Amino acid sequence: MIIKKEIILKKAQKQGWAIGQFNISNQETLKAIFQAAKKLKSPVIIGTSEGESNYVGLDEAVALVRAFEKKTGVPAILNLDHGKSFEYIKGAIVAGYDSVHFDGSKLPLKKNIEIAKKIVEYAHKKNTLVEGEVGIIRGVSESLKNVPEMKKKDLTKPEEALEFIKKTGVDSLAINIGTFHGVKASGQSPHIDLQRLKEIKEKLGNRVFLVLHGGSGTPDSDIKKAIKLGIVKININTDLRIAFTNNLKKVFQKKLKETTPYKYMPEVVEAIQKVVEEKIKLFNSVNKI
Ligand code: G3H
Ligand code: ZN
Repeated sequence: MIIKKEIILKKAQKQGWAIGQFNISNQETLKAIFQAAKKLKSPVIIGTSEGESNYVGLDEAVALVRAFEKKTGVPAILNLDHGKSFEYIKGAIVAGYDSVHFDGSKLPLKKNIEIAKKIVEYAHKKNTLVEGEVGIIRGVSESLKNVPEMKKKDLTKPEEALEFIKKTGVDSLAINIGTFHGVKASGQSPHIDLQRLKEIKEKLGNRVFLVLHGGSGTPDSDIKKAIKLGIVKININTDLRIAFTNNLKKVFQKKLKETTPYKYMPEVVEAIQKVVEEKIKLFNSVNKI
């Protein structure tokens, strides 16, 4: 069965570029993403974690994304990011999300497979894509938190990834190839283990869409090489949160007495849009609509 929104990912995989997943927890960030995507004619994935979707509302996120898609003509996939339980994920599917990410990476592989399989069975009946995860991606999408030192044992093992995709039937797979959520890690500079990625890609071929999490703070040159080696989707959150927060602070330094949100928010939206445009160019998803 072909799920309609899968076509965007298939095209990226075939042509060798990546589609950005940009996370949101407010309308300003969503607006900035769609403006950037419209300007550069790029498809986008909108991500909301459990926390972000709890804040925005699952139904509201669906309605907002559909409204922006209609208005801008930009095709978008709405993905529940790092869903931890079947129940929460089911709620997102019922609300109308196009895709769900089940993060069972901290569970024993057998349990991770068991739950992911159950989610795939449910989701595919409802035309919803599923992303699984094998290998532990540490950290949180906050600028000031230092991620504990990375351990080689957390990286995705190609044989486990193959077993996982065969037994679950997921459409996409999040892998740990050295990145982390957030922009700072103790005792190491952010980098991608390109050799590990190569080994994973050789093992899995084009059977799934390979997903890179923790895209913020990762060197551009590593990202470009990772796309060449088969990464099809790249998740970005912290860089957008930093752009939002830092620019909001800046605006209030200049406009101390301003109390009307629609008068001080445009500068924030503009700053986020700039970051998204840079990522879209880096991922080479320009002119792909
Ligand atoms: O799932 C979300 C992403 O992996 C975000 O990672 O905050 O490092 O950009 P990031
Ligand atoms: Zn992530």
